[in-house]
Amino acid sequence: MPKYTVVTMPGDGIGNQVLPESLRVLKAVGFDADYIPADIGWDCWCNQGNALPDHTIDLLTKHKLGLFGAITSKPNKAAQAELKPELQGKGHVYYSPIVTMRQKFNLDICMRPCIGFIGNPLNYIRKRTDGGFDEPQINTTIFRQGTEGMYAGVEWTNPPENVRATLNSHLRFKAFANIPGPDLAVSVRIITRNAARRIITAAFEYAKKKKFKAVTICEKPNVLRETSGLMEEVAKEVKKSYPDIQLWSTNIDAQLMWLNKNPEDYNVVVASNLFGDILSDAFAGLVGGLGFAASGNIGDDVAVFEPTHGSAPKYAELNPPIVNPIAMILSAAMMVEHVGETDRADRIKNAVAAVVNEGKVRTYDIMRIPGSAKSISQGAASTTQMADAILAKL
Ligand code: NAI
Ligand code: MG
Repeated sequence: MPKYTVVTMPGDGIGNQVLPESLRVLKAVGFDADYIPADIGWDCWCNQGNALPDHTIDLLTKHKLGLFGAITSKPNKAAQAELKPELQGKGHVYYSPIVTMRQKFNLDICMRPCIGFIGNPLNYIRKRTDGGFDEPQINTTIFRQGTEGMYAGVEWTNPPENVRATLNSHLRFKAFANIPGPDLAVSVRIITRNAARRIITAAFEYAKKKKFKAVTICEKPNVLRETSGLMEEVAKEVKKSYPDIQLWSTNIDAQLMWLNKNPEDYNVVVASNLFGDILSDAFAGLVGGLGFAASGNIGDDVAVFEPTHGSAPKYAELNPPIVNPIAMILSAAMMVEHVGETDRADRIKNAVAAVVNEGKVRTYDIMRIPGSAKSISQGAASTTQMADAILAKL
């Protein structure tokens, strides 16, 4: 019997193009697993009124390891309109299946490495005073709290009476007291001590394992005094158990400036949900963008790995597919590393690094040309050719 069973959820659009390529790579490195396909995404919503079907939840509960491609989501009006007629008007509400999955399985440790590959023409460069350019080696991993913060999902337009009454009891709400309900939207930013401790501890453990000298907590405690304040407080507390690792503290706005000046200074950055989401996209932009951005959503029991890109509908119908499978393949490598098979994970990462560095096989994004059916005739590799090149290095 294979050692692992992986629930594979290609989802929508290009998820269906990149996920199968990652399975070829996993097989090539001898990752000893069975793969069970499961549904997720827009078709599930349209046909079942639920983008994350119970069957998929059951499979994840049982097998504990998931690989996920991408999903399509649309605004409320479009979501209701595309529900199949029998389901319309039955009170179905669209929820993002990824957010639901993270909350359902408490996948609260969201890890997003942004690590530059030598030779990638998309890498960040910086002009020197002598007119030359520096290309610093960026090796930053963002630890994003995955289940609460601004994405806890506790929000209202036109808050109900009792919520309104509670808001009215806050001194600072006076300025908004006379706003009519339909003109008032409120999202609650929820930070809990326990979840804060878990994500910050995960960041310190990673820094310790990789021998990095510092962890940066990136919040905004001078303004968000309660929620960011609690994150900072917990960070200082957790730091005490790691005497050899420094704790740096930056504000989210300043951090986005610093990452454009000296991104190589930051190896481990930890933040609440929304800030972590922003930071990880921002850092990913310095190392190649969405075609390279891998991630893991890790809980105590279940873990799901996914590229951070979406379903890219405009490329989903192209045949052959042209999108870059590297983000998906690196996500699969994260899964392999997560279960402790570091050598196999390193082999995958080294193969990707070799292909990128050699520069002979490049998808359209790496060539910096627009993606279209014409990309291939302009010299871009297809999705499958890129995966083939990586397989060849294995
Ligand atoms: P997207 O990530 O799907 O695509 C944005 C653009 O990034 C693409 O048009 C393409 O130019 C580029 N891109 C993305 N993946 C690429 C790859 N592997 N190789 C090369 N280029 C790549 O984001 P967009 O267009 O904002 O959203 C499309 C759909 O995906 C929406 O329905 C959105 O809700 C959903 N989405 C899903 C996510 C997920 O499943 N985790 C995350 C982000 C968006
Ligand atoms: Mg994002």
